This record gives sequence, structure tokens and C-alpha cells, in this order.
Amino acid sequence: MELVFETQNIEQTEKLGKSLGKCLSKGDFVALTGDLGAGKTAFTKGVAKGLGIKDDVTSPTFTIINEYPGPVPLAHMDVYRLKSLQELENIGFDDYLDGYVVVMEWADKVKELLPEDVLWIDFKVLDNSHRQIRFVSSSPYYDDKIRELSI
Ligand SMILES: Nc1ncnc2c1ncn2[C@@H]1O[C@H](COP(=O)(O)OP(=O)(O)OP(=O)(O)O)[C@@H](O)[C@H]1O
Ligand SMILES: [Mg+2]
Repeated sequence: MELVFETQNIEQTEKLGKSLGKCLSKGDFVALTGDLGAGKTAFTKGVAKGLGIKDDVTSPTFTIINEYPGPVPLAHMDVYRLKSLQELENIGFDDYLDGYVVVMEWADKVKELLPEDVLWIDFKVLDNSHRQIRFVSSSPYYDDKIRELSI
């Protein structure tokens, strides 16, 4: 199932993330792709809010993984600067798969390591303030989670 949204500003992108976050639970994996500066981190901030996390979410570009405790804990990953798949495994990637919601930016770079069923979300810059955000689910499990999304 595919769903396409267009957001007009950063607030709408965050709100869309929040509405997804409300439907996610431990063990879920959200794989983000798309242009630099397209809104992946902004969206993840919203996801964290939806999960009930109070801390401010910042980009993990240099740390690769940031974890946030909460009612449903979040592991926010960004593999843009990752040098090898081995590096991600060394950081303990597998340890996050069961007890967290994982949101990974640039996930297409490490496809080989991802769980079988993930929710893909692709971000595209349309212009200064507009973004296209495309959800692609390939299971009834994630279909159910994206069906009710709203901006
Ligand atoms: N509709 C929109 N949705 C989200 N961000 C927007 C929108 N319009 C403008 N912006 C701006 O685009 C930028 C998005 O930055 P963000 O860090 O979320 O992108 P990113 O995809 O995580 O980038 P990177 O690939 O570098 O990690 C922000 O500066 C934000 O203000
Ligand atoms: Mg980012």
C-alpha cells in the first residue's frame, strides 16, 4: 500500500510524524529515504512526540544512533556517514530491534541489514517549503498503521 502526502511547512511534517508515532510500538522499524534537508529529522521529532517522548530529538548524523527513553523508547539512527555495514553492527544495531521503535535516516544505504518487514517513507523536496512524503508498506501490519494518518 502506498500513501502520498504533501506538506507545506515543517510543522505539518512534524505533525504527520506525530500521527505515525501514535500508532507505533516496540519492534517497529521505519526506514526513511530521500534528499538532504527534505525533512527526515523533522518528521522523526514528530514521531518521538507521538511515542510520548519528552526529550528534544536532534540529528544523529555524527553519532549514528541516539536513543530516547519513554513509554515507547525510540532509537533514531542516521547512516549517512556510515563507512561500512560492519560499523553499524559494531555499534550494536541488532540490540535495538526488539525493545525500541527504530527510525533510520538514509536506510537505503544499509538495506542488507534491515529487518524483513519495514515501513519505507521517502521524502522529496518540491520547493523551499513543500515536501512530498510517500509511505510504502508491504504488509497488512504496516498498512493498518498508515491508513489513518493525517496532517
Ligand atoms: N514542508 C517542510 N517539511 C519539513 N521541513 C521543511 C519543510 N519546508 C521547509 N523545511 C525545512 O527543511 C529542513 C528540513 O531539515 P531536516 O533536518 O528535517 O532534513 P533531513 O531530511 O533530516 O536532512 P539530512 O538528510 O541532512 O539529515 C529544515 O530546515 C526545515 O525548516
Ligand atoms: Mg536528518
